Amino acid sequence: ETPTIGVIGMAVMGKNLALNIESRGYTVAIYNRTGSKTKKVVEDHPEKKLVPSYTVEDFVNSLEKPRRIIMMVKAGAGTDAVIAELLPLLDKGDVLIDGGNTFFEDTMRRSAELDKSGINFIGMGVSGGELGALRGPSLMPGGQKEAYDLVAPILEQIAAKADEDGKPCVTYIGPNGAGHYVKMVHNGIEYGDMELIAESYNVMRNMLGMTVDEIAGVFKKWSEGELSSYLIDITADILTRKDDLGSGKPMVDVILDAAGNKGTGKWSSQSAAELGVPQSVITESLYARYISAMKDERVAASKVLPKPVGNVKFENREETIELIRKALYFSKLMSYAQGFEQMRVASEHYNWNLQYGELAQIWRAGCIIRAKFLQNITDAFTKQPDLKNLLLDDYFKDIAKNYQESVRDLVGFATKAGVPVPGFMAAISYYDSYRSEVLPANIIQAQRDYFGAHTYQRTDREGIFHYSWYTEQ
Ligand code: 6PG
Repeated sequence: ETPTIGVIGMAVMGKNLALNIESRGYTVAIYNRTGSKTKKVVEDHPEKKLVPSYTVEDFVNSLEKPRRIIMMVKAGAGTDAVIAELLPLLDKGDVLIDGGNTFFEDTMRRSAELDKSGINFIGMGVSGGELGALRGPSLMPGGQKEAYDLVAPILEQIAAKADEDGKPCVTYIGPNGAGHYVKMVHNGIEYGDMELIAESYNVMRNMLGMTVDEIAGVFKKWSEGELSSYLIDITADILTRKDDLGSGKPMVDVILDAAGNKGTGKWSSQSAAELGVPQSVITESLYARYISAMKDERVAASKVLPKPVGNVKFENREETIELIRKALYFSKLMSYAQGFEQMRVASEHYNWNLQYGELAQIWRAGCIIRAKFLQNITDAFTKQPDLKNLLLDDYFKDIAKNYQESVRDLVGFATKAGVPVPGFMAAISYYDSYRSEVLPANIIQAQRDYFGAHTYQRTDREGIFHYSWYTEQ
């Protein structure tokens, strides 16, 4: 049987995606630069309709036309190398999909280059890790709409399905870099969710003196309520695990507190800064990873920098846990409000015409940030497709109103006790800034005008002004 689609790159994501496609009844061509990997996949799955090739030429020639090819290779120079090899072998109208965690500007550049040869190019965000790729990821494809239509039936079959209405977690995102941009913001939001969960754990552990098992129980309970999400679920599970090297300790107590990152969260912050959008929760989460990685410096500083003198006592453990839960939900909301605002500004800047409601919809299942909460976001944008900020939706406005005191208390207590809560702090500061009719930026403008004659605008009349700061009035 002639393969309907081909997958390049047989590392775990590529292999699992190929197996996922095959499981929906398709014959799939597979290729990997190192042939032994391709061979191994075929040997491990003899019953599957996988057609291996050991040269790019054979791989391309084996495919049904117009060809559909998904590249699942390490983002960066590797992607350019594969494209360069493929280009002379492809025909006008073929569809090339990059499913890596690619920087969206690279996708825009490649898209423009391939366009010259009439090759359709789709930059597709793939979320859900190894299992997601195999069982049903959330897919964020960006490129020519006609190209999307050529692969949509396959993508819809392999994508995760939302519990609420069974809809596949894939939709046409927009032209060129739109898909990879949205995946990048997804990852930024992922950083924020992870940091807020980690801070919640830290407060329970270090301020409430709870055991790891007790905290696991709290996350388990939370996962049944409005915080229900994949990341809360896996955290509850992680906290129940014991050291696999036999120390008897909880696994989290032997994992070094120095976070890694592969760059997508950083790109998300960088892009927000470029576009002039505040994205403080995600950015603080990125910085929290960076400062965690400065382990040696922190160890040295912990020996010389004094901690606060005061003592913070919580009256009631159950009440404090509920306070943390509310603070977490509130802060998550701030993070998503920022993420969606960033996508709105990016959409206007790059002319992508992003459909925010659909983005929330395809994040309801399959991806790392999947959560009950995404249904509320979907509903908010369904009600009001041009919603400027999630906080202005009635449901979320109510959450903010009812939960804000919890964040204020939590941040106050934690700060008094010297327990860092940068994510929570960023969240409440954003809320207070966003809802402020007047901010002290008048001082900033006066200073800028004072030392650099940068001019200012007035509250009482139109125009651009400069004050003669160096002249006695
Ligand atoms: C996903 C994840 C995935 C990957 C990140 C991790 O959506 O499936 O986001 O893409 O796990 O690259 O990123 P860091 O290594 O930067 O934490």
